[in-house]
Amino acid sequence: MKHFLNTQDWTRPELDALLGQAAKFKRSKLGDQLKGKAIALVFFNPSLRTRTSFELGAFQLGGHAVVLQPGKDAWPIEFNPGAVMDGDAEEHIAEVARVLSRYADLIAVRAFPKFQDWSVDREDTVLRSFAKYSTVPVINLETITHPCQELAHVMALQEHFKTPDLRGKKFVLTWTYHPKPLNTAVANSALTIATRMGMDVTLLCPTPDYVLDERYMGWAADNVRESGGSLQVSHDIAQAYTGADVVYAKSWGALPYFGRWDAEKPIREAHRHFIVDEAKMALTNSGVFSHCLPLRRNVKATDGVMDSPACIAIEEAENRLHVQKAIMAALANQ
Ligand code: CP
Repeated sequence: MKHFLNTQDWTRPELDALLGQAAKFKRSKLGDQLKGKAIALVFFNPSLRTRTSFELGAFQLGGHAVVLQPGKDAWPIEFNPGAVMDGDAEEHIAEVARVLSRYADLIAVRAFPKFQDWSVDREDTVLRSFAKYSTVPVINLETITHPCQELAHVMALQEHFKTPDLRGKKFVLTWTYHPKPLNTAVANSALTIATRMGMDVTLLCPTPDYVLDERYMGWAADNVRESGGSLQVSHDIAQAYTGADVVYAKSWGALPYFGRWDAEKPIREAHRHFIVDEAKMALTNSGVFSHCLPLRRNVKATDGVMDSPACIAIEEAENRLHVQKAIMAALANQ
């Protein structure tokens, strides 16, 4: 039984097949691939796009989605094996995942890091525990990676460049300022999928402290060896933007300061100029801009960039619906 926890677990032909099916769903939105089937969407964190697109995607394929928010409208869950459960949690993941597996054909999970200890968060315990105890396929709705966003982004790029072959494109993943330290998930994912597609990838960030976890830097290096393309880290804004075909923006907290965010704040504050603006985009090769959304305008990117024809963030957001229908259809009918 196959899960969808990370794109790195899927072969390139399998990913291409998902993207091909997503393109079909974009042309014709209704189907019966999930007829009589159900998906349990378990959200530990807020969402606009993910929740809406999964619920409506299941509906459009004849299925049904149930949304659960543990600790709000569902019981708080314990994840530690062997825990003496005398705290807040009312039930253990061992029961939760098994019970949901008896009701639903798919389980999908959003669980952001706790932002206290990266050595703990990087284990992805919530998602891994669902996958361990579930007897149906599990989908990652964003934990420490965001694989659904990866496919939606690639689909938008393939549409923009009018080719499935993205090799040789200069792809800049740029850190941007945000008043709060954010999850590295989308950055980890962007690095993973851009290298997987054989692009020439530049990770642009303020200081070496903002380089991503070695697991994802390692995946990127593996992907470059397998798919061609290249990977470099840059702290030079002009060098990174010059000649870029794609600028993908995200803010994230520096891992060496994980849980010590007061110490990181002055560094972040000193790099507000990493905002994506018209002057930086003018350095690109008529480059395209995108972001996973939500995005704080005039903090991460200017109104001018967001409202320009170069911005494909809305197309990427729409593609979440199509790629996720492809993922659900593939997993529910394996
Ligand atoms: N990009 C994304 O996952 O959006 P939501 O957080 O609104 O689901």
